[in-house]
Amino acid sequence: MCGIVGYTGTDTAKDILLAGLKRLEYRGYDSAGVALERTDPAGETHLDVIRRVGKVAGLESELEHVDDESTCGIGHTRWATHGRPSVANAHPHACCGGNIAVVHNGIIENFAELRDELTARGHVFGSETDTEVLAHLVEEAYAQTHELVAAVRKACECVVGAYGLAAVCADEPGVIAVARKDSPIVIGRGEHGSYVASDIIALIDATRDVVVLEDGQFARLAPEGITYTDAQGELIEPEVTHIDWDIDMAEKGGYPDFMLKEICEQPRVVRDTLVGRLAPSGELDIDELGLTFEELDLIDRVYVIACGTSYHAGLVAKNLIEGWARIPCEVEAASEFRYRNPIITPSTLVVAVSQSGETADTLAAIRDARIKGAKVFGITNVVGSPVARESDGVIYTKANKEIAVASTKSFIGQIVSLTLLAMLLGQVKGKLTTGQVRMLFRELGDTAAQIQYILDSQREAVHEAALACKDAPSALFVGRGMGAAISYEGALKLKEVSYLHAEAYAAGEMKHGPIALIDPGFPVIAVTTKSPVYDKVVSNLKECEARGAKIIALATEGDEDIKQIADHVIYIPPVRDAFSAITASVPLQLLARDVAVMRGCDVDQPRNLAKSVTVE
Ligand code: AGP
Repeated sequence: MCGIVGYTGTDTAKDILLAGLKRLEYRGYDSAGVALERTDPAGETHLDVIRRVGKVAGLESELEHVDDESTCGIGHTRWATHGRPSVANAHPHACCGGNIAVVHNGIIENFAELRDELTARGHVFGSETDTEVLAHLVEEAYAQTHELVAAVRKACECVVGAYGLAAVCADEPGVIAVARKDSPIVIGRGEHGSYVASDIIALIDATRDVVVLEDGQFARLAPEGITYTDAQGELIEPEVTHIDWDIDMAEKGGYPDFMLKEICEQPRVVRDTLVGRLAPSGELDIDELGLTFEELDLIDRVYVIACGTSYHAGLVAKNLIEGWARIPCEVEAASEFRYRNPIITPSTLVVAVSQSGETADTLAAIRDARIKGAKVFGITNVVGSPVARESDGVIYTKANKEIAVASTKSFIGQIVSLTLLAMLLGQVKGKLTTGQVRMLFRELGDTAAQIQYILDSQREAVHEAALACKDAPSALFVGRGMGAAISYEGALKLKEVSYLHAEAYAAGEMKHGPIALIDPGFPVIAVTTKSPVYDKVVSNLKECEARGAKIIALATEGDEDIKQIADHVIYIPPVRDAFSAITASVPLQLLARDVAVMRGCDVDQPRNLAKSVTVE
């Protein structure tokens, strides 16, 4: 949940660390800090640790007073787990002697006992964090090894948990030691030095050729080069991955915020996710599936496991998988799935959906499902992520880097990918003919233009709707079928970015309780697109209207009748019900974003959240 960065070379370290931390801020923004090497007039090297509560911008002001000489350092942006956001709990954490500093992303599960042992041996702790034990463990080990990477390796042997960590030592100027277990680390070599970070996005200005460190591997970064070792300290030559996406993707490109930029990228996401997926023969081509058609044909139960927005993509998929392939499909929060005893047989397919590919609960659920014998298929946005690596097969969502904490374009990529999977299962099971698949595929592709149409024509209508609900204390999202599935996502989006309380209900459930909330002016946002349950939703809305609700309807273009009950109407083009989640999600994303802007919220970095949830 945190971002780490490190640089050693010939350039000014603080500038590189700050630029990297700004790009990693989506991973956490409770506090930030750096440790910079400084050489005194006597030629002695020291570590200056500078930390601030709050966002990287605060740290940047602090660093204006620091000279530019340092060419080696590490930095961190934090999402608090152990210990509240405070200067003392901010990283880097230094050892008692002050000559070793560590930044860490992950969780040290046995930190309490390690801390007791280290305290008993005379170490003094300055924070409430789990990470600080690493600094003291490395300090002890360094006294024996006199070599930083060896000391980090020895420290890691004592630790239970997850870590992506970087350490510097004043006694080994210019060296950064790096270790990884279950938390992402990428390393790269640029023209002016060596770089490490939690995410490629922080290195991409320097290099496009990176090493994605594997669990149990270590690296030694120096100005002149990088060496990699395994858990035994043996030299290894890791694979180098070339990054072909552009840095523009990490910039706002003229948009006021990343969320709006990413919403507007969705037509491209649909197109890119579909490229090359339909063979001339009419067969769907998902070559990374990792399962043969014979194995797919044996599947008799599907679980979609995911968290948050990705879970909502699963709700959409349930309708499609059951509708087209006639296979029972359950959608479950990964955090629940992992702690119960689901019925899994070798003919169970578990579909794990995760934008980041590193969500702790989803990963744990994947591991559990595989142990129980399920085939696991991943849908993720991050190439080489743990979800991709630990699944039997994978579809990449082609959303490219998503920076805003609120998922938008990755959600659309997930739905498109899950739709492909549902079509494939339908085809393999003989429930969809090649002709039907061709037709569905073409209509799925058409949603790219339909999204663009919504973006071009409905911004004003969304804005009016946002004005109508921005001051409400609460809002309800309702729909049925596909409309219910995306109502859940609409409510999540609104509450996470605007802090306006929102709930979603299947519209038919309103009269069983939630309708009691409605008094004059209460906003009800309803998905009333043309579908087999259209009339039912309208009836439910009339019940809300009768009690004075302010109704904002998402309706199909041409539906004039809806204006009789709705105060505001946002139109989407006519689309097959199966694909309505793709198009109808877009106005809901825009609505949440507009309300958040009107309420003065930080749209891209909502309070208390982080983009990657790598803790349970
Ligand atoms: C939604 O906007 C959030 N970003 C959050 O609910 C997210 O979908 C969830 O944490 C799961 O993340 P993942 O897709 O990276 O696994």
